[in-house]
Amino acid sequence: MYGASDPAAADRTAFRRAEKQYKLYKPPNLKGRSRSRSRSKPDGVEGGCGDLSAVVDFHALLAADGELPAGIGRSNCAGFDHPVFCFLDRPGFYFIPGALSTEEQCYWIRESLKTFPQPPNRTNLTAIYGSISDLFVAAKNRKILVEVENSDVQEKEQNNGDGKTESKYSKFVEDSEIQKGEGCRSTRATTLMRKLRWSTLGLQFDWSKRNYDVSLPHKRIPDALANLAKNMAIPAMPFGEEFKPEAAIVNYYGPSDMLGGHVDDMEADWTKPIVSISLGCKCIFLLGGKTRDEVPTAMFLRSGDIVLMAGEARERFHGVPRIFTESDQQEISALVSQLSGEDDCFILDYIKNSRININIRQVY
Ligand code: OGA
Ligand code: MN
Repeated sequence: MYGASDPAAADRTAFRRAEKQYKLYKPPNLKGRSRSRSRSKPDGVEGGCGDLSAVVDFHALLAADGELPAGIGRSNCAGFDHPVFCFLDRPGFYFIPGALSTEEQCYWIRESLKTFPQPPNRTNLTAIYGSISDLFVAAKNRKILVEVENSDVQEKEQNNGDGKTESKYSKFVEDSEIQKGEGCRSTRATTLMRKLRWSTLGLQFDWSKRNYDVSLPHKRIPDALANLAKNMAIPAMPFGEEFKPEAAIVNYYGPSDMLGGHVDDMEADWTKPIVSISLGCKCIFLLGGKTRDEVPTAMFLRSGDIVLMAGEARERFHGVPRIFTESDQQEISALVSQLSGEDDCFILDYIKNSRININIRQVY
């Protein structure tokens, strides 16, 4: 996605060094048998294990309810009934720990997997397979996606409603329906689910051009998500102004996925916040400076946390170098209890190894 890393450039900046340090972090119980040796070393990157002592933990600050560490403040916002933290030297950045209840988290995880990847929303799979409907249901029912030759399906060519057509056509079939030796390309729906990396809601973002393509067909952001974003954006909005959600990017992270340092600069008005919702496994988020040379601040993001980036904070490099899928690190026990119904077992399996981020933007 962003900043495909050039290995030679990997260590050149403070941001890249921090990314590498956290990406390579291994929890103590996975350090292997050379424990006593690695303990005698300074706990640093060389050991391949790393150190999380500098990672800001807003949940711990909330629970301690004491004096805040230097540089961290509470933002008081009339009529907003969640605690909000900020960095005194980084205006425009707001952290709302535990903004969503477990029920709300489950709802948005289900939506992210079932509804958000549905056409006309585009996903990273669209360019490869054409538009895919009901991927989630197909994965649950262990179906297989087969690509059909275009000439065979001219009458089924997918019209996007704007005269543009997708050049590929794919359909789901049962395992038993696949004719051996037929030569068509086939992929398990469960594999595709794991390959899902992003989907876009509302105005469609074109990742190849890194721009919004308003000519692409799209639906409005669902009202419930727009209302949630409007409410959560309040601490970052000028008094009396309302946030207008026009687009959202949903990121799906598997165990070794990361999001390289970047600045989101394709929206017209940077005074408006990006509202960023975390779901599923815990991760480390880096908030850097206006160049990659500034040492970034690391913080934990957990399921249900919301981050706002507005104004000056929008010019800062940020990224996600590490997802914690290890069972004693992921911190999703409330979600796991909530997703205990038979119908939820596919979602539970997915989220135990994944993180989902929904970030909502006002484009104009
Ligand atoms: C993004 C982004 C952060 C996250 O999609 O632009 O910065 O928490 N996501 O995944
Ligand atoms: Mn971003």
